[in-house]
Amino acid sequence: MTEHAIPSTPSIHAIIGAGQVGTILARHLAAAGHDVRLVRRGPPGAAIPGVTWIRGDVLDPAVADAACRGAVAVYNCTNPPDYARWDGVIQPLYRAIWAAAARAGARLVQLDNLYMIGRPERCPFDESTPERPCSAKGELRRALGEELLEMHRRGEIEAVIGRASDYFGPHTPSAAVFRPDVLARIQAGGSAYVFGDPDMPHGYTYTPDVARGLAILGVDPRAPGRVWHLPTAAKMTTRELIARFAAVAGTEVKVRAVPGWVLRALGLVSSLMAAIGEMNYQFEIPYVLDDGDFCRTFGVAPTPLDEAIAATLAAGAQAPAAA
Ligand SMILES: NC(=O)c1ccc[n+]([C@@H]2O[C@H](COP(=O)([O-])OP(=O)(O)OC[C@H]3O[C@@H](n4cnc5c(N)ncnc54)[C@H](OP(=O)(O)O)[C@@H]3O)[C@@H](O)[C@H]2O)c1
Repeated sequence: MTEHAIPSTPSIHAIIGAGQVGTILARHLAAAGHDVRLVRRGPPGAAIPGVTWIRGDVLDPAVADAACRGAVAVYNCTNPPDYARWDGVIQPLYRAIWAAAARAGARLVQLDNLYMIGRPERCPFDESTPERPCSAKGELRRALGEELLEMHRRGEIEAVIGRASDYFGPHTPSAAVFRPDVLARIQAGGSAYVFGDPDMPHGYTYTPDVARGLAILGVDPRAPGRVWHLPTAAKMTTRELIARFAAVAGTEVKVRAVPGWVLRALGLVSSLMAAIGEMNYQFEIPYVLDDGDFCRTFGVAPTPLDEAIAATLAAGAQAPAAA
């Protein structure tokens, strides 16, 4: 992503969640001279200069306070561990992070997805699009987003929400399409299997752009109090994007759609596949977010697509077991 014009003075930033985006955000903020705390329950990852790993569960207020104390910004980059079970898990997780950020007097930057939109009436859809979720997960996200912005309006916290579309990038084991197994197939040439309709336009957001977008939302005075769509490098059909990956990799890849009945049948025996099936409508309709407001307001653009693809493929080749 191109550089944001507003320099931020070195300060403390707390990132909760060291997954697909949290770790990249930590590297980015530390490289900019900030003092970064990176929290997860599991063991610390590789040492990153300027980053202090904190091992703990943010549901414990002592852990959350230790992470957030003195921070100017707290980034919620968590996700519940079980994709099939969010209700009753995601609400206490988010509220614990929001409460700790509020106690610290820090700005809360919420990383979010697009599940609350449901089936948008127009495409691309921007931040003014009505939120009409058509899934249980979407309704949870809608309600949590509303709750956070209402807390902001009441002056209980300074909050901002950054929403991304489906990820691609270095080390994205939980991406909907560009997972390590699909990247390996692209690099080897052959067939790539996808759920949904590969000929529907879809937005794919590059995880380093997600991280850099969140970093802007953490410091820019124009950011708080609303939802922003983060810069999104790929707006095309899934088939076209896989072809673009293959062109960069120098291979030929056939895209094959997995029939809908297969996903439905798998959903009968697997709660994870049922949960994936619930959200598959996003790949059966045109589903592209409009990131224009963010790019114009903050004077940035997504990473050029071929550059993002090359970095994604290179990371996959270096560390196939990163998941
Ligand atoms: N996947 C996508 O394509 C996509 C696209 C757009 C938006 N998003 C959104 O982006 C957000 C982040 O998702 P992600 O896929 O980047 O996350 P992720 O890779 O699954 O990472 C989540 C992190 O949260 C940590 N965590 C979970 N519960 C915790 C707790 N109680 N205390 C401390 N740490 C905890 C996990 O570590 P431990 O398990 O070790 O605690 C992990 O490091 C989510 O809101 C997701 O919906 C995802």
